[in-house]
Amino acid sequence: MLSRRGLVRGVLGASCAALAPSLPAWSTPAVPADDAADMVRFIAALPKAEYHVHLEGTLEAEMKFALAKRNGLDLPFADVAAMKASYVYHDLPSFLAIYYDGMKVLRTEQDFHDLAYAYLARAASQNILYAEMFFDPQEHLKRGVPMAAVIGGITSARESAAAQLGIGSQLILCFVRDLSAESAMETLNAALPFRQHLVAVGLDSDEKDHPPIKFAAHFAKARAAGLKVTAHCDLNQKDILEHIRQAIVDIRVDRIDHGGNILESPELIAMARARNLSFTVCPSFSGTVRGEAPPIDVVRGMLDAGLNVTINSDDPAYMGSEYLNEVLVQAQARSALTKAELVGLSRNAFKAGWMGEAPRAACLARLDAFARAEGVTG
Ligand code: ADE
Ligand code: ZN
Repeated sequence: MLSRRGLVRGVLGASCAALAPSLPAWSTPAVPADDAADMVRFIAALPKAEYHVHLEGTLEAEMKFALAKRNGLDLPFADVAAMKASYVYHDLPSFLAIYYDGMKVLRTEQDFHDLAYAYLARAASQNILYAEMFFDPQEHLKRGVPMAAVIGGITSARESAAAQLGIGSQLILCFVRDLSAESAMETLNAALPFRQHLVAVGLDSDEKDHPPIKFAAHFAKARAAGLKVTAHCDLNQKDILEHIRQAIVDIRVDRIDHGGNILESPELIAMARARNLSFTVCPSFSGTVRGEAPPIDVVRGMLDAGLNVTINSDDPAYMGSEYLNEVLVQAQARSALTKAELVGLSRNAFKAGWMGEAPRAACLARLDAFARAEGVTG
C-alpha cells in the first residue's frame, strides 16, 4: 500500500503539473549516505531565491486552525492531522478545490500579515535571500476582504521580514484564469492604487480552456503601469504548447511559471533562448513531461536544452510541507544535479529576479563567496 506521503506525492504530481507519471522510487540513483548528507548540507547553505510560491499555498494546517479560531470560524476537521489527511487530489482542479477552500480562513489584514511573515521566516531560515510571491486577490475579494487589507497585510510582513530577517521580497498579483476576464479586470483596477507594492502580474489556477490570450488586455494594462508579466503554463495541460506560444509570442511574458512541456518543441525552445526567458520550475511532483516513453525529466531536460531554469516550491503547505531546501534535495537526486549545477540554478534565479541592480549584485556576491568557500567552480 502507498504510504500517505507516497500517496500525496503521486497525486500532486498532477497538481501543478498534471498527470505525467512520476519516476518510480527505484529509479533514483543510489548515493552513499555521506554524500547524501553532504548534499543536504550544501543545499541548505546555498544562497537561494524563490519566485514560484503561492502565499495561500504556504497556509499550513496549524495556521488554518489558529486563524479559524481568531475569526470565529468552524472548520470541518477534528484536528491538524485530519485536515492534512484530506489533502489528496489527482489533478489540478481537484488540488485547487482544496486550496481555495483552505484559504477561506484568511479574513483580516493581520491574517495576511501572519501568513506572509510565516513564509518569509521559513524562507529566510533556508537561506533564501530574496523571494517573489504570488497571491490570488480575486478569491479574497469574493469573501468581502478589501484589497487594502490583503495587500496591506502582506506588505507590512515584507517590511518586517526585511528589517528583522534580512530577506528581500516582492509581490505578484495573479489573475485566477478560470474566473471571467471582467473579474480579472475589476481586480486589476482595484489593485492599481497599490501599484507601488506590486512587482508583476501573473496567471494561475485551472488552465484548461483558459489560455493566456484571454488576459491580453489585462497584461497590456499592467505593463503600461510598469509591472512585469508572468504566466503559469502548467505541465501537461490541454493545448499546453499553444499556451506557451501565446505566452512567449502574443503576450511577450517576462518569465514563464512551469513551462516544462517546451521540451516537446524545438521551435519554442529556440524562441525562449533567443529571448533569454527564465522558467520557474516546481519539480516536487511534476517531474516528467508526458508522451512517449521514456518520460523526460523536466529539470534535466530544460538544463540540457540551455534554458534558464529556477527551482521553486509552489504550494508547500499542500505538498508535505516541503519548502525549497527539501524540494532541491529531491530534485538533486532525481535529476542528478551536480554542485556546480546547483550553484548555477541559484545564479539563474538571482539574475531572473525583478529586483534592483544593487541587491542583485549583493546576492550574486554572496553566491560567489559560497561557491569559492565550497571549492565549486562553474
Ligand atoms: N494556484 C495555486 N497553485 C497553483 C498551481 N500549482 N497551478 C496553478 N494555479 C495554482
Ligand atoms: Zn504555481
